[in-house]
Amino acid sequence: MSPDTDVAAIVEELTLAEAIELTVGTSDPTARATGYLAGVPRLDVPPIRLVDGPLGVRIPGETSTAFPAPLAVSAAFDADLAREHGAALGRETRGKDQDVLLAPGLNVIRVPHNGRNFEYYSEDPVLTASTAAAVVEGIQSQDVVATPKHYVANNQETDRAALDVDVGERALRELYLAPFRATVDAGAGAVMSSYNGLDGTPMSEHRRLLTDVLKEEWGFSGFVVSDWFATREAAPAATGGMDVEMPGVSMLELLSGGEQGGEDEGGDGGFSPADIDFPEEFASGMPDPESVEGFREALPGAVERGEVPRKRVFDMAQRVLTAAEDVGVFDDDRADGAVDTEAHRELARRVAIRGSVLLENDGVLPLDEADDVALIGPNVDEAVLGGGGSSETTPVVETSPIEGIEERAAGSVTVAHGLPPVEGFSMFDFGDDEGEEGEDGHGSEPGEEYSVDDAAAAAADADVAVVVVRDVASEATDREDLRLPDRQDELIEAVAAANDRTVVALNTSGPIEVPWREDVAAVLEQWYPGQAHGHALAAVLYGDEDPGGRLPVTFAPEGTYPTDGDERRFPGVEGTVHYEEGVFVGYRHFDATDATPTYPFGHGESYADVAYRDAAIDGDAVTVDVANVGDRDGREVVQVYVRPQAVEGVDRPVREFAGAASVGIEAGEVASVRVPIDDLALQRYDPADGWTVDPGEYTVEVARSAGDVRAELSLER
Ligand code: GLC
Repeated sequence: MSPDTDVAAIVEELTLAEAIELTVGTSDPTARATGYLAGVPRLDVPPIRLVDGPLGVRIPGETSTAFPAPLAVSAAFDADLAREHGAALGRETRGKDQDVLLAPGLNVIRVPHNGRNFEYYSEDPVLTASTAAAVVEGIQSQDVVATPKHYVANNQETDRAALDVDVGERALRELYLAPFRATVDAGAGAVMSSYNGLDGTPMSEHRRLLTDVLKEEWGFSGFVVSDWFATREAAPAATGGMDVEMPGVSMLELLSGGEQGGEDEGGDGGFSPADIDFPEEFASGMPDPESVEGFREALPGAVERGEVPRKRVFDMAQRVLTAAEDVGVFDDDRADGAVDTEAHRELARRVAIRGSVLLENDGVLPLDEADDVALIGPNVDEAVLGGGGSSETTPVVETSPIEGIEERAAGSVTVAHGLPPVEGFSMFDFGDDEGEEGEDGHGSEPGEEYSVDDAAAAAADADVAVVVVRDVASEATDREDLRLPDRQDELIEAVAAANDRTVVALNTSGPIEVPWREDVAAVLEQWYPGQAHGHALAAVLYGDEDPGGRLPVTFAPEGTYPTDGDERRFPGVEGTVHYEEGVFVGYRHFDATDATPTYPFGHGESYADVAYRDAAIDGDAVTVDVANVGDRDGREVVQVYVRPQAVEGVDRPVREFAGAASVGIEAGEVASVRVPIDDLALQRYDPADGWTVDPGEYTVEVARSAGDVRAELSLER
């Protein structure tokens, strides 16, 4: 069909039944897509294929590039890198012959325990918005529909499918909606609505937020797709603003790729209900497929009874076709895409490095390559690809910490696990019988004896000890606490006692407790670094690359976060969670309470030694010269915060992040940096008057982090 396909003309030709078929998923005959719209063959409308996810393309039984988790992308504080990452995700999606990528996930990190924080970007709305918008631009640039998710206020996994969120309009607008608006402005063709309800209405039928705000106020012309099995009643969903119900098939069909189990248990090779016994950790976070009133079954009658205007069904179909046409689904010259290219492998490594945050360093890093290294940790045999859930990806190649360090070191490398492997979660290995005793898939020898003492002894005999540790996180469940699982803290303490040149490399889904931080020489946070884990770890430890990342989330002692210690705020009581902290999430909370975080938002060390000079306001931006006065090349992330003036009767944060610029600076050089001030940091939302910028003076901070201000300027508004 020609590039300028007339979508309206196609919609005119559709029968009601054909229009409805464009609004509800069905089984992909090839069993590859996560969601599948059959199209309308009579009118040359091809199928439309939807696929996860934010860390890479997930197709059962297939491989693709396993990029670092989104938290590593945002830790780079670099929208250009995020755009490049989005474009690579888009190319991989096309390379897998899919049309819609169910990414980016951009829920604000309100709860440090949230099992999906690794899939999201930040506690701050400006960093979340700028990163997500760039990723969307990248995805859409490759003729793929981007799907910002999960709209909106899906900030925990506990009870996510039944929970109602009680949130004030100001916090909803300033923190939770703002990033989604940025992705709509960036051209997203779809938005995925979330499982939860908000102020008493399920998001799948929330007319004010799906229609009044998203479509009418923001001008969103694409389609709203439900989360999987998230719709409740069909007519309220359709009239509320939901355009596509997914998956539109039973859980059985979804998980067995359309093959149904036979009459008896197990059937002829498909799944039977008995197979789907999700691990109990997921129980509270899984939707109930039986609670869905499907569009296919319910809409014809609803239209006939006048509950759903016929026009609305054709609007739903038109939105799907408009988004599809926009990415060339009808065209012959559509981007081909590519999977697992050298460029994508290099980008996966580069993002992992740029997202690495050096939290502490007494000078032990970078390592001397001649050093003899004791490489310690229960999971050093494997790359930490990601967390559990729909974002799981399977790479073609991956490098473990062992491989990365052994490739790079000139001295000896002695490996000691110290502990049994820390088991990650997968939502897809329920009901199978692999992984029996002895096959832990972690490279340990069957029957290996694990000994903390042996690990400490190995550390004592080495010039330097590197301890690689991880947490465990997954969709559909939240972390029980913010500590490293199993006995990893004990392992770190024992190694640090044996060698005062101990480096801890963290692979976590978000904030983590570091009780041993004063006993070790360096701490490096690499989040879930993906397939290039080993190479990224070695490159940063040996100083081949500067750890360019800064914290997109505050690290603080458990019990000091705004959602700690009050069940109303997390995980909720009697089915409702109350966002009583308002806009005071993350660093905004810690600034307001004078609680000192362990590591503040924006924190991160560099191998360079920098000095800020001649900061100034230039219109709506800050300019500053950054001198690398050290003897090593490095990277600096210049951050800008705005301190709003007091407004009678309005609680405002002490400071709000307003933008950043990441720049590489050679030793002895000076970089001139310009950071635009994001309007969102100056505005506040007044439920009566809407968005407001109070006239008067604002203090503008030029900083290395929310806790390390290097210059103060004045801005008049
Ligand atoms: C899941 C997730 C969503 C994912 C979808 C399809 O429940 O919440 O992020 O894209 O279902 O797998």
